[in-house]
Amino acid sequence: MQRPSSPERGPVAIVGAGLIGRAWAIVFARAGHPVRLHDMDLHTLHSSHAYIEARLGELAEFELIDEAPGTVLARITCVADLAEALRDVVLVQENVRETVEAKIEIFSQLDALAPKDALLASSTSWLPASEFTKDLPGRARCLVAHPTNPPYLIPLVELCPAPWTSADVMLRAHALYSAAGQSPVTLSREIYGFLLNRVQAAVLNECFNLHEDGLASAADIDRVLKEGLALRWSFMGPFETIDLNAPAGVQDYARRYGQQYRHTAASQQTFSWSDEAVARVDEERRRTLELEGINQRSAWRDRRLMALAAHKRHAPDA
Ligand SMILES: NC(=O)c1ccc[n+]([C@@H]2O[C@H](COP(=O)([O-])OP(=O)(O)OC[C@H]3O[C@@H](n4cnc5c(N)ncnc54)[C@H](O)[C@@H]3O)[C@@H](O)[C@H]2O)c1
Repeated sequence: MQRPSSPERGPVAIVGAGLIGRAWAIVFARAGHPVRLHDMDLHTLHSSHAYIEARLGELAEFELIDEAPGTVLARITCVADLAEALRDVVLVQENVRETVEAKIEIFSQLDALAPKDALLASSTSWLPASEFTKDLPGRARCLVAHPTNPPYLIPLVELCPAPWTSADVMLRAHALYSAAGQSPVTLSREIYGFLLNRVQAAVLNECFNLHEDGLASAADIDRVLKEGLALRWSFMGPFETIDLNAPAGVQDYARRYGQQYRHTAASQQTFSWSDEAVARVDEERRRTLELEGINQRSAWRDRRLMALAAHKRHAPDA
């Protein structure tokens, strides 16, 4: 993750300093933006500084930042007053809880208080921006910028316009997130769950159904991904994968295997997400990892992701 040179390296406000807000603060501070971190909960706001300092130390250990952790940390200011946090910003990244009501309330404040030319982006994982921006005078500058957790290690950000988001805003957003070291994908129109969560939903749907049908244990279904499909998926997507899996590319692949995929699809069903079926997977997971161990295992996951990000940094795609 090179420290990028940004044409628009003005101040960025991060509103909501929970898991995702803190992670965004690292992304923008690492890229050289002054960052104002705001949360309505003062304990959350002030505890975020030590949390970010610890993450920056880990990033330095894996050579994923080009400056001293203290230099990056010094760009981040915790600001309790929302209007003060929004002063002179070029971008507001909103990260409050995932309900339409909460998003409507915060976006009406952001539109009233932020500079008129600032971009207003939501981290929402599922909600189209039209559901919480339609009545705003400044709705043309609002969009979704959905990160993947944690965005300082996983660069994808999904940019999704509402029907009234201006084309110029989408271009500015693309330039700004790219310059901050992220990898933006722009959707042509709104769809619930955007791209990543829709693909994840399809995979989880099938994994739960295979488990429910007793075909394999949860551990073995996880193994299908971690020792199989996902090894390729960490550096190429499913389209590139099939392009390389037949001598004459995608059309050749479809001629060879399209009928089998159609046959398989005919037997695939929508998973119910019933409490009982979910509990059966949870029970198996709890035998492997007790709830008390979740934080420790999450820290392990992030360190594995750091090692992978460091590898990708030294061996870029092309
Ligand atoms: N957790 C993930 O993996 C993930 C990934 C991508 C996107 N997101 C999205 O990011 C957003 C935040 O998720 P999170 O996991 O960080 O949640 P979180 O619960 O950890 O943090 C939300 C924070 O927002 C603060 N807050 C709530 N209302 C506020 C307001 N009006 N003004 C200021 N602060 C306010 C809360 O005090 C809390 O600290 C959600 O929309 C979520 O869908 C989450």
